[in-house]
Amino acid sequence: MKVLVVGGGGREHALCWKLKHSPSVSEVICAPGNPGIAQDARCVNVGAEDIDGLLQLARNEQPKLIIVGPEVPLVLGLGDKLRSEGFAVFGPNQAAAELEGSKSFSKQLMAEAGVPTAKFETHTDPDAAEACLRQWGAPVVIKASGLAAGKGVIIAEDVETAVAAARDMLAGNSFGEAGSQVVIEEYLLGEEASCLFIVSGDVILPLDSSQDHKALLNGDQGPNTGGMGAYSPAPCVTPEIAETVLETIARPTIAALAARGAEFIGTLYAGIMLTENGPKTLEFNVRFGDPECQPLMSRLQSDLGEVLLAAAEKRLNGMHLDWDARKALCVVVASNGYPGAFEKGQRIGGLDAVQNSGAMVFHAGTAEKNGDIVNSGGRVLGVTALANSVSAAQKVVYHALSKLDWAGGFYRNDIGYRAVARERLNKP
Ligand code: AMP
Ligand code: GLY
Repeated sequence: MKVLVVGGGGREHALCWKLKHSPSVSEVICAPGNPGIAQDARCVNVGAEDIDGLLQLARNEQPKLIIVGPEVPLVLGLGDKLRSEGFAVFGPNQAAAELEGSKSFSKQLMAEAGVPTAKFETHTDPDAAEACLRQWGAPVVIKASGLAAGKGVIIAEDVETAVAAARDMLAGNSFGEAGSQVVIEEYLLGEEASCLFIVSGDVILPLDSSQDHKALLNGDQGPNTGGMGAYSPAPCVTPEIAETVLETIARPTIAALAARGAEFIGTLYAGIMLTENGPKTLEFNVRFGDPECQPLMSRLQSDLGEVLLAAAEKRLNGMHLDWDARKALCVVVASNGYPGAFEKGQRIGGLDAVQNSGAMVFHAGTAEKNGDIVNSGGRVLGVTALANSVSAAQKVVYHALSKLDWAGGFYRNDIGYRAVARERLNKP
């Protein structure tokens, strides 16, 4: 079958690469894609947020399955429009995408459905937000309610910082319209994990666990980013925890959406904090995680096209997923300056040498200029390897990265450190 993938980042590269190797898939098209994706799919220059252009592309190409990678087109209603023309789509409609598009909607839904999550209040008035923060004290978490590419979350260690952050968001300074409503949350302590599910109506198929490193700097320091690296599986997610997340978080959330008339078809991503009182939801996304998707696709052995088509056509019941027992680890290389401003168009050398060192290079923010690969986004590459342990996969990736020839990029040196420490402890 012919499959159209919407998006052009590292997640979409991993999806296109996996689809290319799916027996059920004969052709992969990607809009807009990137130079790395072009090695695995036919890229068409239609932007991932160009809803009318994507509709026209679907009409021209008539793909059997359309997979929407990023959240923005889903929140803009791309799923609804494609479905109304009869296409099989993997990615939720607008009403269900609100789970990611509005943190206040998502927290309200969780409260109603009894899904474990941090205590919260939502505010649009700066004085009311300040009063809440002064009453609660620090540490406390302030979130822009709307979409902010993973960057709209401030963890404040003291009340004055918290008040300044909330006022800044509500004034529209830091995150524009996304910050016109803020969610103030109780600070949760614990280890984080990403629990993803392929969902088709009331059928929910869990993916193996993964763990992302959202902070910019080594030791999980610095501001939040979209994710600086990830690995799978995450040993902190035991089979019992995975079951608890499925039963107390994923199922009631999907049921609460359905009760509001919003059927979910797509990936439900639950960001989880493993607290001493059990797993609690930090956030929901309505698509595969980026970079979690890169290690997950590296380990998935099932035919991705077949599974996602079954989900899109509501015949997911009875399907299961096979995984490579090895561990996969992905390190993100970002442009110097990210998550702030950075210089684009810098030549990136050594990519063949990185790939020849046993790692897979997934492209994210790259472009082609005069035959060279250059940076065009904040997160640029996801260098990924599979090995028998997280420590071994980490070694392969960092050795491969030593071949990268790009002074304008940087990466964290400690991706996977929690799992590596666990592996050391478990060794005699
Ligand atoms: P979110 O986009 O809501 O997942 O938040 C981004 C990151 O901020 C999470 O991955 C956590 O590291 C951190 N975070 C969010 N909410 C909380 C919370 N209530 N307590 C502690 N850390 C949080
Ligand atoms: N890696 C976090 C996310 O995809 O939102």
